[in-house]
Amino acid sequence: MNPLKHVAIIMDGNGRWGKKYKNSRNAGHKAGLNTVEKIIRETIKNRISFLTLFAFSTENWKRPKKEINYLFNLLENFLVDKIEDLHKQNIKLKILGSKRFSPKLNNLLNNSEKKTSKNTKLQINLALNYGSKLELIEAFKKMNRKKTTISEKNLSLNLQTKNIPDPDLLIRTGDTKRLSNFLLWQIAYSEIFFEKKLWPAFNEKDYNRIIREYKNIKRNFGKI
Ligand code: FPP
Repeated sequence: MNPLKHVAIIMDGNGRWGKKYKNSRNAGHKAGLNTVEKIIRETIKNRISFLTLFAFSTENWKRPKKEINYLFNLLENFLVDKIEDLHKQNIKLKILGSKRFSPKLNNLLNNSEKKTSKNTKLQINLALNYGSKLELIEAFKKMNRKKTTISEKNLSLNLQTKNIPDPDLLIRTGDTKRLSNFLLWQIAYSEIFFEKKLWPAFNEKDYNRIIREYKNIKRNFGKI
């Protein structure tokens, strides 16, 4: 059975779910947050050490301002309400992406990261204003400045995901088969599952089914 240390998820389908069932895309984001909480609980139950969630991409700024504001409010309230609880559960929060938000949200994110930095049960990497191409370019620029030899190892060490093992499993919900500029370097050998269900409808049972299937895959890493 394959070990499972790191699950990464592209949580797609909030907007469609919200439109279909509540006539509002934002209602889909709200429901999507409930799924986030369910999946965190299930990740702990499965003793998985790293969970990376794609919450907002560098391309998502092209959405209507109203939707963007709603999403960041949701995140802000979530952190205010839940960070103490996450901390008590020994969960570490790390933000991937550039923190270019309101001073209030930036502070909240920095404080949440600082508060939970020593926790060891589960590390949640929240990708916010994250784009893999930008991450790679910034890593190369950094290596260039420091005159670092270009190698796979050194590139990995200069990415925002340094010290995080590559995802073993990548899940994308929402019936769309693309990677949307997410962890392109890190998922070179990840097992990828595209799930038909929209993110708010995705549940513990679906997650555990994927985990079971993943565990039984013969992972070759180029060998036979
Ligand atoms: C993609 O669905 C989802 C997002 C861009 C936002 C993800 C946010 C959440 C799951 C809720 C908030 C999370 C936190 C951690 C506060 P989409 O809107 O692109 O769906 P669509 O493809 O149906 O339009």
